[in-house]
Amino acid sequence: MAIVIKTPKEVDKMRIAGRLAAEVLDMIKVHIVPNINTATLDRLCHEYITTKQNAFSACLNYHGFPKSVCISINDVVCHGIPSEDEILKEGDIVNIDVTVLKDQYHGDTSAMFIVGRATTHAQHLCRITQESLYLAIRMVQPGMRLRALGCVIQRFVEKQNYSVVREYCGHGIGRKFHEEPHILHYDAEDGGVILQPGMAFTIEPMINAGDSKVYCMSDGWTVRTKDSSLSAQYEHTVVVTQNGCEIMTLRQDETIPRILTY
Ligand code: MF3
Ligand code: CO
Ligand code: CO
Repeated sequence: MAIVIKTPKEVDKMRIAGRLAAEVLDMIKVHIVPNINTATLDRLCHEYITTKQNAFSACLNYHGFPKSVCISINDVVCHGIPSEDEILKEGDIVNIDVTVLKDQYHGDTSAMFIVGRATTHAQHLCRITQESLYLAIRMVQPGMRLRALGCVIQRFVEKQNYSVVREYCGHGIGRKFHEEPHILHYDAEDGGVILQPGMAFTIEPMINAGDSKVYCMSDGWTVRTKDSSLSAQYEHTVVVTQNGCEIMTLRQDETIPRILTY
C-alpha cells in the first residue's frame, strides 16, 4: 500500500478530528490531580468524545483495547490501560493518548501531565521529549527525507543522555488510524520516503530517562521500560503543506504556531 495523499477536503476533515482530539486533552488537564483513578479520567474523556463531540474514540476496542484512551504513568512507555485501581499521586508523570474518529477521519495526539509537582529530573524529561517533537515538526516540508525527522529526534535526546524507544513509532493517519508510512524516531533505513504536500502522519517520540529497552506486560498492552526508568511521550498529527506543515492537534497551552512555513 502506498502513502495516501489527502485532498484539501480531506485535510479539512482531519483538521476537525485533530482539533477534537486536542480539545479532549485541554478538557482533561484540570482533572489530573492526586487521588483520582485513571478509570475516572478515561470515563471523563469517553463522555466528552461521545456526548459533547459526537465522535468516537478510535482506541476503544481497537484490536481489543478495552478503554477509550491510553494512560501511561512514570515507567509505562505507552498503551497503559485505565483502571479503578490505578490512583494518581503527587509527582507522577502521566501521558494521556487520545485518538478521535470524526466524519471518517482520525486525529491522534498525546501529552504529558504532571501530578502536582514532580522532580526536576522528571520535568526535564518531559520538556526534552516535547522539544524533540517540536524540532521534528519544524523540519517538516515537501521534498525532505522522512528519515531526517528520526535523525534529529535521536541526536537531540541522546545529547541529554536519554534514549529513544525503537519498538513503537509514528504512523500515517487519515481514514485509517494507522497507515503508511512508519515514522521512526531514530535514524534508520526507511525506504527513502520523500515528503509531499497532503501527506498526514503522527510524530510521537517515546523517550526513556534510562535504557531504550522496553517490554510488554501480560495484559497484552501495557509497555514498560526494562530498567524501570521514567518514560515520556508527546504526539501530534501533522499534514505536509506546500511550504511546511500544519499541526492538526495543537492545544491551548502550546506556543508553537499551528502553521509552520519553512
Ligand atoms: N494512540 C496510539 C498511537 O499513537 C495507539 C493506541 S492503540 C490502543 O498510535 F489500542 F492502545 F489504544
Ligand atoms: Co499515534
Ligand atoms: Co496516539
